[in-house]
Amino acid sequence: MGEVTLRGVRKSFGSTEVIPPLDLSIEPGEFVVFVGPSGCGKSTLLRMIAGLESPSAGTIEIAGRDVTHAEPADRGLAMVFQTYALYPHMTVAQNMAFGLEMAKVPAAERAEAVRKAAEILQITELLDRKPRELSGGQRQRVAIGRAIVRDPVLFLFDEPLSNLDAELRVQMRLEIARLHAGLAATMIYVTHDQIEAMTMADRIVVLRKGVIEQVGRPTELYSDPDNIFVAGFIGSPRMNFLPAAITGQGQEGHVLVDVPRLGLSGLPVPLRDPGVRQMGEVTLGLRPEDFGHPETGDRTVELTAEVVENLGGTAYLYTDAGRDAAIVAEVPRRALPSLGETVSFGLRAADCFLFGPDGKRL
Ligand SMILES: Nc1ncnc2c1ncn2[C@@H]1O[C@H](COP(=O)(O)OP(=O)(O)O)[C@@H](O)[C@H]1O
Ligand SMILES: [Mg+2]
Repeated sequence: MGEVTLRGVRKSFGSTEVIPPLDLSIEPGEFVVFVGPSGCGKSTLLRMIAGLESPSAGTIEIAGRDVTHAEPADRGLAMVFQTYALYPHMTVAQNMAFGLEMAKVPAAERAEAVRKAAEILQITELLDRKPRELSGGQRQRVAIGRAIVRDPVLFLFDEPLSNLDAELRVQMRLEIARLHAGLAATMIYVTHDQIEAMTMADRIVVLRKGVIEQVGRPTELYSDPDNIFVAGFIGSPRMNFLPAAITGQGQEGHVLVDVPRLGLSGLPVPLRDPGVRQMGEVTLGLRPEDFGHPETGDRTVELTAEVVENLGGTAYLYTDAGRDAAIVAEVPRRALPSLGETVSFGLRAADCFLFGPDGKRL
């Protein structure tokens, strides 16, 4: 129940192709997050699944049924948007029941569905209130409740938490995750926030200009990105990208790499694809959290603290801040460097990623 299959789905607005032909399979019960920068086509893709936009080509199946030309109401899904358009003159209970009323569900059944959904979302005591008597988080919960009462096989969320403040976003993130764990439904969740994607998804679909850059579990995208776009998009602060050069072959599946900005030469970096014979200019990727204790790792590098950002739980040192891309390293919060101090770090060659001039992982 609730699997989704897209085959050759394409979308153009006029002469502008927003989504080139795309294939994607979503398993029943999966929580899949579409993530990517603003304008990359996440909402368009979701709206085609919802039936609010028609694909320019291709087919969409939900729960084994071709719904490419089906009305939104006939697709067995419910959608929650960023702006929770509740009817101001109706109570919470009436808002939640409205869709069922339209679908001519008998009153007793409606009341029962609302009661159950309210219980799941812990908003039972709000059922008689009007939307203006609710906080932003409570309103969004009602909007989710309106989706739940319909008992869909598929939930679609389009940036539902974007209008909430940071603290509430974290809380709602947990609630939606809990909701998913409690319901058997498939969920597709759109966000531009990679932290939401990392924390909520069973699988993440990274989109860029309407093209799927990579699909995988959060830890897969983090530890094994296919390309420089995914590597830079997943993880915060962003992975450092440094100009580097492959100068020769190392032992079994390793290449020797020079990284002038880190003062490194001949670093034996493992290749993802041991068959690669690329030489010359590449980009080396290294995450801020992989700058380790100087007595660990394969090599030592020294960075001068030009800016130190202390977030409380973690702290970051920035160097070369004047250049187009500063180098960022996580530093222990109990040993904060002073400004201008030179700090030694240990680097493991195995933590380094290499990307070719076309951005593909080597
Ligand atoms: N109805 C439309 N008419 C023309 N262009 C559109 C329409 N809807 C979206 N677009 C364009 O399609 C691209 C993808 O938009 P969208 O799916 O909203 O991106 P996202 O949700 O990832 O921010 C954008 O360039 C946007 O301007
Ligand atoms: Mg959008």
